[in-house]
Amino acid sequence: MVVRTGAVSQHPARGELLNVLFEGRNGVHGNDRASVLIEQVDPRKVPSPKWGHRLLPGGCVCCAAVISFREKLPGVSFSPRTVLITGGNRGIGYAIAEEFVALGHRVAVTSRSGSGGPDGVLTVAADVTDTVSIDAAFTEVEEELGPVEVVVANAGINKDTLLLRMSEEDFESVIDTNLTGVFRVVKRASKGLLKAKWGRVILISSVAGVYGSPGQINYAASKSGLIGFARSLTRELGSRGITANVITPGYIETDMTGELSAELQEQYAKQSPVGRAGKPEEVAKAVAFLASDDAAYISGAIIPVDGGVAMGH
Ligand SMILES: NC(=O)c1ccc[n+]([C@@H]2O[C@H](COP(=O)([O-])OP(=O)(O)OC[C@H]3O[C@@H](n4cnc5c(N)ncnc54)[C@H](OP(=O)(O)O)[C@@H]3O)[C@@H](O)[C@H]2O)c1
Repeated sequence: MVVRTGAVSQHPARGELLNVLFEGRNGVHGNDRASVLIEQVDPRKVPSPKWGHRLLPGGCVCCAAVISFREKLPGVSFSPRTVLITGGNRGIGYAIAEEFVALGHRVAVTSRSGSGGPDGVLTVAADVTDTVSIDAAFTEVEEELGPVEVVVANAGINKDTLLLRMSEEDFESVIDTNLTGVFRVVKRASKGLLKAKWGRVILISSVAGVYGSPGQINYAASKSGLIGFARSLTRELGSRGITANVITPGYIETDMTGELSAELQEQYAKQSPVGRAGKPEEVAKAVAFLASDDAAYISGAIIPVDGGVAMGH
């Protein structure tokens, strides 16, 4: 019996009924959905949650942990990791956190207020423009969940306007958050990753960083900077079991793009050969793969999640 990675439909809590999608190796179960009663799960405290069991349609017993299932399955490697996502209280970061929780990882997110984030994550306060707050956030996560093994630098802002109208403050503040902020976060994370001789660094850039975007000179410059960042990091730390990759989302429906005029939103959606806006969950799937054991030989790469806008660039 195969438990599909990412098939857990909601975050588990003690006593909760959880829907899990099963796929029978011999086809017996097809795509049956089964309910599994959770006996003991607190991903923030229990590294390998124990799951309840019940009889599934077709007579098979689902027992032990879904996580153990994944560990035992040939061809599917899974190790629960401690994951920290910056800006995980909404938008893409929130979806990434949900995905990691569903996969059974120990997940922490940051927000500036110290609140928000999906059920089952530890939310800590951090402002990526402030080194002290980043250090405090990492320390809190390390104490609660153990050393951070996967860091997703997602927090970002935009201050769009044409070059001639853009103030130096507009330019610098976007660079400070989107690029220098990533430097602060990854520098703090790298100590632990080096010690563990294993790590995943995933930077959320943008299609604007490879394709350019009028009115976004500050934003595009900050997002291109992440490519040189990840590639240099790959060359510095690649031999220590640490990968560093960049994801370049296209137009994704979040608060950030919700502020755009309806006309511009329609224009962006049509620009994509897929013909629609992307969903935060679609970015999250790519992030989860890059964080997996199976992605150990992918580093310094740019992974577009843009509906084909930049044609693989
Ligand atoms: N949406 C898109 O179409 C799109 C496309 C390409 C790339 N991206 C990138 O994807 C990432 C997430 O975007 P999104 O659309 O999900 O944006 P969003 O909904 O506006 O969320 C932005 C997140 O970043 C956090 N953040 C902003 N400034 C911060 C700071 N100084 N310190 C700590 N956290 C800060 C926010 O936290 P608070 O709530 O605490 O402010 C929030 O969690 C960004 O890097 C963005 O550039 C988005």
